[in-house]
Amino acid sequence: MTASADTTITTPSCTLAGRIALVTGGGSGIGRACCQVLAREGAQVVVTDINLQAAKDTLTLLPGGRQHVAVAMDVRDRSSVEDAMKSAQDQCGASPSLLVNCAGVAIIAPILETDDDSWKKNIDVNLTGSFLVTQAFATSLLESGNDPRGAVVNIASIVGKTGCTNRGGYTASKGGVISLTKTCAAELASKAIRVNCVLPGLIDTPMTARRSKDLMRLIPLGRAGRPEEVAEVVAFLLNERSSYMVGACVEVTGGYGM
Ligand SMILES: NC(=O)c1ccc[n+]([C@@H]2O[C@H](COP(=O)([O-])OP(=O)(O)OC[C@H]3O[C@@H](n4cnc5c(N)ncnc54)[C@H](O)[C@@H]3O)[C@@H](O)[C@H]2O)c1
Repeated sequence: MTASADTTITTPSCTLAGRIALVTGGGSGIGRACCQVLAREGAQVVVTDINLQAAKDTLTLLPGGRQHVAVAMDVRDRSSVEDAMKSAQDQCGASPSLLVNCAGVAIIAPILETDDDSWKKNIDVNLTGSFLVTQAFATSLLESGNDPRGAVVNIASIVGKTGCTNRGGYTASKGGVISLTKTCAAELASKAIRVNCVLPGLIDTPMTARRSKDLMRLIPLGRAGRPEEVAEVVAFLLNERSSYMVGACVEVTGGYGM
């Protein structure tokens, strides 16, 4: 066997210290757990939510207290997104270099009974919101002149891949998030911003509080996931430990939908 030129394994930095991470939908469920895990990993966290009080409540749960900030942001609204990005930059002294697009709604109805308003709500928050926030984030990071090394994680859903009865607007929005992830990943990789997405299955949060018990039979692990089980994967995808992952869709489902 010939010796390879270099067999050294370099160890990437495993900490997020010195990084600013902006999380949308940070006031509840998976978004809140992302804020907690990212703060534990050393990041300064900008907790954003349409519900500012919920974002402030998340702040009280974060280690490293005063360095984190809460900002109101409605992801559907370009000016709200741009104002929030500017406010994050002003309060933290630099542009965020890490982003989690987690804000979401699930308006449920059979396709024959889906009205324009509920269709639009799913698309506006879940898909248009991910687009608007990613665009504002990447613009702010690239214009900042700081080290542009960035990472984005979009929270899609396993049903964006599989489809699901009674969730036409929701599944279409999440399928859109999957393909938006891949396009952004392809365009932004050359600018040193990696984009990936996570496809959660059934996770225990306020969004899924009223669910049928029958669902458990479909999950090989036999239980719903916990928000922090998604957040740990998000933290990995934001970390340089996943430096060669671009445009990946990581399923966190207990085996559902594989
Ligand atoms: N819980 C699950 O089983 C599950 C499964 C797959 C994907 N997801 C996705 O994970 C994400 C988080 O969901 P969750 O279960 O934690 O739900 P959740 O309801 O607990 O949290 C959603 C958060 O988004 C915020 N939000 C809603 N509309 C907003 C807007 N226009 N602008 C900014 N913030 C807004 C809410 O205020 C709330 O804090 C969503 O994108 C959801 O689709 C959840």
